[in-house]
Amino acid sequence: MKVCHMIGVDLPDGDLKESFNYTSATEDNDWPTESACPGFKTTNKDFFELCVPLHNRVLEVMAHGLNIEDPLFFVKRHAQPSRACLRSLFYPSLDDVTVKDQQVRCSEHSDYGGITMLFHQVPGLERHRVFLDGTPAERSQSRQSIVFFGNPNEEAVIDCTDNSNKYPPITCRDYLDQKYSATHQ
Ligand SMILES: [Fe+2]
Repeated sequence: MKVCHMIGVDLPDGDLKESFNYTSATEDNDWPTESACPGFKTTNKDFFELCVPLHNRVLEVMAHGLNIEDPLFFVKRHAQPSRACLRSLFYPSLDDVTVKDQQVRCSEHSDYGGITMLFHQVPGLERHRVFLDGTPAERSQSRQSIVFFGNPNEEAVIDCTDNSNKYPPITCRDYLDQKYSATHQ
């Protein structure tokens, strides 16, 4: 579990957002106190548990869409709930912050894992980035979203389905390590 400001590698300053990550592997870490955030822990954990079967259903549909013989091909390779992550994201009202040149709410990126499920109050994510444009009312409005990242098992091998090996096979663990170290360098 962590609270962080994600830093856009190519931007003059970090994104205008706050995030809070929850994974079942880190549930014993410190949580906000119940008095400070009533129901926060329970809601996070319950919502995570609701997301897992939905995520598995989407993976089944993907296997069907790709004509993979085993309908549980992807589900079996996403069977470690500890690899999944539920992220609460808060983008503050722009009335409350000083926006620096080229700063955005969420800089351009691609997600790392198998699938991402995004739950939000209002639209805003555009091609994996959240801009700062919009009407004055939209800029004044804070934005809250919750994202469920489904990641493959650590030992799952990612390789080309056509056996071309255009991209060398790599385990999920090594791939995620590469992406995280590049993001936080
Ligand atoms: Fe994303």
